[in-house]
Amino acid sequence: MARITVDHLRTMKLDKTPIVCLTAYDFSFATILDNVGIEVALVGDSLGMVVQGHSTTLPVTLDEIIYHCKCVSRACGRALVVADMPFGTFESSPQKAFDNAARLLGESGAHMVKMEGGEPIRDTVSFLADRGIPVCGHLGLMPQSVNMLGGFRVQGRTEAVAQQLVRDAEALDRAGLSLLVLEAIPAGLAEVVTRSVSPPTIGIGAGPGTDGQILILYDLLGIYSQKSPKFSKDFMQDAGSIAEAIKVYAEAVRNGTFPGPEHSF
Ligand code: KIV
Repeated sequence: MARITVDHLRTMKLDKTPIVCLTAYDFSFATILDNVGIEVALVGDSLGMVVQGHSTTLPVTLDEIIYHCKCVSRACGRALVVADMPFGTFESSPQKAFDNAARLLGESGAHMVKMEGGEPIRDTVSFLADRGIPVCGHLGLMPQSVNMLGGFRVQGRTEAVAQQLVRDAEALDRAGLSLLVLEAIPAGLAEVVTRSVSPPTIGIGAGPGTDGQILILYDLLGIYSQKSPKFSKDFMQDAGSIAEAIKVYAEAVRNGTFPGPEHSF
């Protein structure tokens, strides 16, 4: 099976074929995900919360992401593997971001890095893209900014914040962004952003109008350490196995039945 590439994802956006993404942190789950045909496996810093038991993603280190990414990369023959850049590894300068992203791609087998942020990281995105590193952006609820946001809250509900989010997305697009995660924003705003930018958008709590969807694997499996997020769905409830639950999720994204209005803002 041919590896999913950045070009492949762009073609899917143009063809309006939904892109199915899921987080993964280890070899066994990543094997199931790859066999089911998920297009993108994200080794997210959410691992700090769902695997390590921290209350935020902030303590996750580059070495930890590299470790989990190596496990996931060994399993993924087809899925594109995206590695999250942890808090503190990319913000201070494009050069530092490049050095850490180069470690991620070189040591872990990932194909793309993900960074939270808008206009302030525009130069970093172009620095990496110009040097051959595809970047996935992350706007809306950015968990690494939880202390500034005052909690894990829906973003973009005021006109000013919504307009800034569109400006952020357009700036990242001009900088050479390859993929864009939109987390916990109103569905209408996610549609505006999706139409405004060339890279595919991947929603989580952003309604059905994005080019693809992502969930945190443990949410999909109904393993919640805290209250389940409104935008997630426990696909294990009606499934006989983990593989079936992931398959039903993929089908629901592809046929447009997930996320429904009850999972959107
Ligand atoms: O860290 C993560 O898993 C993420 C997803 C929520 C998109 O950023």
